[in-house]
Amino acid sequence: MALSPVLPVVTLDVAEDAAPLARALQAGGLRAVEITLRTPAALEAIRIIRAETPDLAVGAGTVLDAAQLDRAIDAGATFALAPGATADLLTAARRAQIPFIPGVATASEIMRGLELGLTHFKFFPAEQLGGAAGLKSLGAPLPGATFCPTGGITPESAPAYLRLANVACVGGSWIAPADLIRAHRWAEIEALAAAAARLAG
Ligand code: 3PG
Repeated sequence: MALSPVLPVVTLDVAEDAAPLARALQAGGLRAVEITLRTPAALEAIRIIRAETPDLAVGAGTVLDAAQLDRAIDAGATFALAPGATADLLTAARRAQIPFIPGVATASEIMRGLELGLTHFKFFPAEQLGGAAGLKSLGAPLPGATFCPTGGITPESAPAYLRLANVACVGGSWIAPADLIRAHRWAEIEALAAAAARLAG
């Protein structure tokens, strides 16, 4: 979460798009990417990014169960995120050798995570949960928790999150939208990545 102010959340239909996409993000100055496990191409895309752009940290997103976490690690994911968490997934994540960031939406979910020794959480879906003001209120009594808010965030709304002391980065799909990927418009993705890399609170 400390690598870049923005973590691009990417869903790929075609694994072969992974390498040029990763190069565009890296050329724009970003140092990490989340590939969601929402398509059959995702694991192969993670393998390709790990092999072709080893300096770009590649993580798996939308990890819903322990088996998916195992497959993501086998593919080379160096971190993982989930929209929420289950007891089984948290147990698997504690055994795993990579950082795992569970999604949270309530104080109780954060408190449960803190009890388990977790300190970093994805606040999801951020905009629908009250945006930066909502996260500020939620985080105030829970100073041990650091967040990557994700869900509906735009370049315009990102700085308000990044100004919060308990936010390390924001996540979003606007850096690599599906239509630009499908059209192989890598230069435009590089420009969006460069603008995202410059975002600050
Ligand atoms: C996620 O999985 O984190 C979200 O789907 C990304 O949200 P966004 O598409 O609204 O940026």
